[in-house]
Amino acid sequence: MSEREYVLGTGNDELARLAQQHRLWSNTAHEAWLRAGLHPGQRVLDVGAGPGFAAFDLAQLATGSGRVVAVDESAGFVGHCNEQASRRGLPQLAAKVGDVQRLGDTLGAEAPFDLAYARWVLCFVKDPEAVVRGVAKALRPGGAFVVHDYFNYGAMTMAPRRRSHDLAVAATMQSWRANGGDPDVMGRVPAMLVAHGFRIEHMVAHQRIARGSDAMFAWPDTWWRTFAPKLVTMGLLQAADCAELLRDLDAIRASESAFVVCPAVYEIVARRIA
Ligand SMILES: C[S@@+](CC[C@H](N)C(=O)[O-])C[C@H]1O[C@@H](n2cnc3c(N)ncnc32)[C@H](O)[C@@H]1O
Repeated sequence: MSEREYVLGTGNDELARLAQQHRLWSNTAHEAWLRAGLHPGQRVLDVGAGPGFAAFDLAQLATGSGRVVAVDESAGFVGHCNEQASRRGLPQLAAKVGDVQRLGDTLGAEAPFDLAYARWVLCFVKDPEAVVRGVAKALRPGGAFVVHDYFNYGAMTMAPRRRSHDLAVAATMQSWRANGGDPDVMGRVPAMLVAHGFRIEHMVAHQRIARGSDAMFAWPDTWWRTFAPKLVTMGLLQAADCAELLRDLDAIRASESAFVVCPAVYEIVARRIA
């Protein structure tokens, strides 16, 4: 499996960004897992787990009597997850290289699971329905599927609006779509869940805004400093517009009043009924 296919990359810069991103969104993740009934002894599947930042927490909550399997297509991220699981004393966590659109190929005898989690993955795959189908097969009847992902990504903006930022958001959506992804995927996921035997128990959108002095400002700031130069390399953003974007971010950090409207994170807790 090629690491080049994944649009955000799998280098150390992206690994560090994912660590910070998890820290900023870990409260939301924990609340959703507990709402879904996560408890010690459960078998948990982390779908598209990246380097494992959510999986480490899931493994601590499932405890040594449980099991967490983290699947990602990046061998580098999977290696990081397994190395950290060992260092952190989490033998119940195992990461495996695999395509989440073909979960059955990777999971083997690990299924069935009590809970599955997919965060910021469905928006990057060509066939999100194949992921939902695979998760439905991997869960026991009554098992829970927790999803955090994007819809209406184009609503991300700066306030006051900035030309550079609107260009960068449009280029971002273009890059994901060019790689088979969909920045509006959560508009389609509820129907996929129903079609594959889930009952939707809970649906909510988490909308954050961030001034330069807010902890959450690190989310868009790190995102653009990591990804905007990649958009330039892809030919989707002009270098001058990238430089203007970074100046506009600096201006927000220095301002008391300007803010970033972050992309809303849509949350679903669904339960397998069939
Ligand atoms: C934005 S990261 C999110 C990682 C993790 N879920 C989190 O919340 O920190 C998306 C991850 O999806 C993985 N990914 C993308 N397409 C995949 C596929 N078809 N199969 C497996 N993993 C995939 C990438 O390698 C990357 O680690």
